[in-house]
Amino acid sequence: MTLILNRNDVISVLQMQDCMDVVEKAFAELANGTAVLPLRTGIKPPDGVSLYMPAYLKEMGALACKVVTVYKDNPVKHNMPTTIGKVLLQDINTGDVICIMDGGYLTAVRTGAASGVATKYLAREDKNQVAGIFGAGVQAKMQLWAVATARDIGKAIVYDISADAMEKFVSEMSAKLNIGIIKAKSPEEVLQADIICTASSSATPLFDGKLVKDGTHINGIGSHAPAMRELDTETIRRSLFIGDSREACFSEAGDIIIPVNEGAIKESHFYAELGEIITGKKKGRTSSAMITLFKSNGLAIQDAATAKVIYERAVEKGIGQKVEI
Ligand SMILES: NC(=O)c1ccc[n+]([C@@H]2O[C@H](COP(=O)([O-])OP(=O)(O)OC[C@H]3O[C@@H](n4cnc5c(N)ncnc54)[C@H](O)[C@@H]3O)[C@@H](O)[C@H]2O)c1
Repeated sequence: MTLILNRNDVISVLQMQDCMDVVEKAFAELANGTAVLPLRTGIKPPDGVSLYMPAYLKEMGALACKVVTVYKDNPVKHNMPTTIGKVLLQDINTGDVICIMDGGYLTAVRTGAASGVATKYLAREDKNQVAGIFGAGVQAKMQLWAVATARDIGKAIVYDISADAMEKFVSEMSAKLNIGIIKAKSPEEVLQADIICTASSSATPLFDGKLVKDGTHINGIGSHAPAMRELDTETIRRSLFIGDSREACFSEAGDIIIPVNEGAIKESHFYAELGEIITGKKKGRTSSAMITLFKSNGLAIQDAATAKVIYERAVEKGIGQKVEI
């Protein structure tokens, strides 16, 4: 039997702390060599792009593949979202697909969770910190949830070019997290934050890196192509650079590819993978003045670990629909 979990099923069982715990273990497996993470494979049918993201985590016993499609004309032509994702979770002993689940909410929470884990290891540990969020869309909300799970957050500041998106962000997230959220009038206003997340669809830098306060921790999760970046050269130059994966950063992240190509920094500026910090192979923050930066591209190990925890919680609670395929 295969368990089918729709979006609401996934929402009802997936909590940020649970997801951060398994995502942390997944990054540790990557650093310890017990994760299998083939490169994302893509196919381009006429109307869009189809991506396949497989991963295996030996210690955790998680084997899964996410299928994500990006079809730009979907909303107009078919009244469907641009991006659609589903995850197939397999039994590691038989190989059988034991669960098919919606991947949209899973992706947002696992992306938040990676930033949450990076924040746990890299941000200053003071109480009553300020979180600053660039972008107020789907990912941005999960970034704030994750940061507020990892640290004591007194208030948040959000900036988006869409006033409507900011309004929705504030009403939804202040109710969910019970913290005050301020709508910034300019990108600069967000830079007073101690922990900053960039989660926008912008292809160009969101702020001037000269204005970032000493001691800030930044999670950069948007800009997913070599020619796109949310962070300028100065932000990268001033930061201790930690990426989810070296390979992913140098093939996908304009945030580091552009300054390397400009000659402003060397490839060796890439300091560590997050898993190396988690496992203690490399030190993280060494002073309260240091600016730390986590660049996330999104890895299939995050999906596999999260899919497994969703499946286990759903089975415990008797949620979902069992189907003989
Ligand atoms: N790293 C990962 O694992 C991962 C996973 C999923 C998505 N992403 C990326 O995250 C980004 C956001 O995705 P989403 O699903 O939240 O999109 P979304 O469309 O829901 O939200 C993006 C928001 O960014 C805002 N924005 C655009 N330019 C801006 C600017 N200059 N300043 C402030 N706000 C600006 C838009 O108005 C919009 O509200 C995308 O780049 C996406 O590719 C990364």
